[in-house]
Amino acid sequence: MNLQSLKPTITQLIENSSDVDYTLLEICNLLKSEVSYYDWVGFYFKNGDKNELKLGPYAGAPTDHTIIPFGKGICGQVAVSNKNFVVPDVKAQDNYIACSITVKSEIVIPIFVDGKNIGQIDIDSNTLDPFSKKDEEFLEFVCAKVATLL
Ligand code: SME
Repeated sequence: MNLQSLKPTITQLIENSSDVDYTLLEICNLLKSEVSYYDWVGFYFKNGDKNELKLGPYAGAPTDHTIIPFGKGICGQVAVSNKNFVVPDVKAQDNYIACSITVKSEIVIPIFVDGKNIGQIDIDSNTLDPFSKKDEEFLEFVCAKVATLL
């Protein structure tokens, strides 16, 4: 799947949105079904004024990690670094929260609203080292579009 070709559909889902959570779920389902190496796609958001992330809409297997403290795991690190985090091989990471034994790699891209990091998109893959700059650029586009709904 050419990631670029998914952009118009993402834009359409955002422009036609009448319910934020439903639209986020549609985006998760679209990405998981269209990109072969996206095996779990979900959104985490800052939980009120707490220094923790709370799981939002997702596509893929249910996870126990519905709350992640800032600093913990790949997601928690992105909550404090404000930077993309691409993990080609999760086994090489010390500060990693395993959701499933099948996951081999992960990418997390922060979502900014008014310059503030308010959440992220998190993608797990069962393939080793599948993510490139193209995924980062595409997911930054998705996050920027999502930010317009929040
Ligand atoms: N692996 C993540 C936890 C979330 S699950 O991938 C759904 C992490 O280390 O933060």
